[in-house]
Amino acid sequence: MVISSMNFKGGAGKTMISTNLAVAFAMLGKKVVIVDTDESFASTKWAARREDAGHEPVIPVMQMIESKTIVSTVRNLSENNDIILVDGPPRLNALVSKIILLSDLVIVPVPPKSGNDREVTEDFLEEFDAVQERRPDGERTAAYLLPNMVKEGYNLHKAFIQSLPQLCEDYQVGLFDNHLGDLVAFGESNQFGLGVVEQSGKAKQQLTALVQEIEKLSINY
Ligand SMILES: Nc1ncnc2c1ncn2[C@@H]1O[C@H](COP(=O)(O)OP(=O)(O)OP(=O)(O)O)[C@@H](O)[C@H]1O
Ligand SMILES: [Mg+2]
Repeated sequence: MVISSMNFKGGAGKTMISTNLAVAFAMLGKKVVIVDTDESFASTKWAARREDAGHEPVIPVMQMIESKTIVSTVRNLSENNDIILVDGPPRLNALVSKIILLSDLVIVPVPPKSGNDREVTEDFLEEFDAVQERRPDGERTAAYLLPNMVKEGYNLHKAFIQSLPQLCEDYQVGLFDNHLGDLVAFGESNQFGLGVVEQSGKAKQQLTALVQEIEKLSINY
């Protein structure tokens, strides 16, 4: 199964999702690999910190910023891995449409902060929709928005989340029931090469619930 995390919004949580899902699925006994398609190589650096700290299991990461070979590379990886997590680039480039097409599931982290978060997410959804329309097989890639960095009890965030079903309807994408809170543990997991499921607390609970929701999605792969 190929799960990519994508949004043109920088800092939305793409790398956080790839690295945390990688650890979570690995701990469920799945063979996982991350494909790092962002030139800043944040997933690669996270995995290096993980390895330096001696955390097990080691999460393999492959860098891939070459659009010509990404499809064949991911196909080859699919033969030997259960879950391939593609950490997407933060802007439209030649890789984006290919990543969308080769994904079984596209997770779109959406930070409900303020400013242009929604517009930039819409830019991604426009591109997602355009890619679907060009598909010769008439199928659609499953894509789900994931509210990330949500502050509980913050009315602005609540209103933002309440506006998402309409956005999902407009672009024919899904919305996860689960949200990820704005929690220190997510930042720390990045810094220390960990997954939040390796620590106890709210972030672990939220990520575990997200994994369960992903497993329940009826996605053919
Ligand atoms: N739910 C969260 N709570 C707290 N911090 C978070 C959360 N999600 C992500 N972060 C932190 O926010 C920062 C940005 O997240 P991340 O690097 O995953 O975003 P990104 O979309 O991959 O960014 P880029 O576009 O630069 O690749 C990181 O420092 C990360 O640890
Ligand atoms: Mg990133």
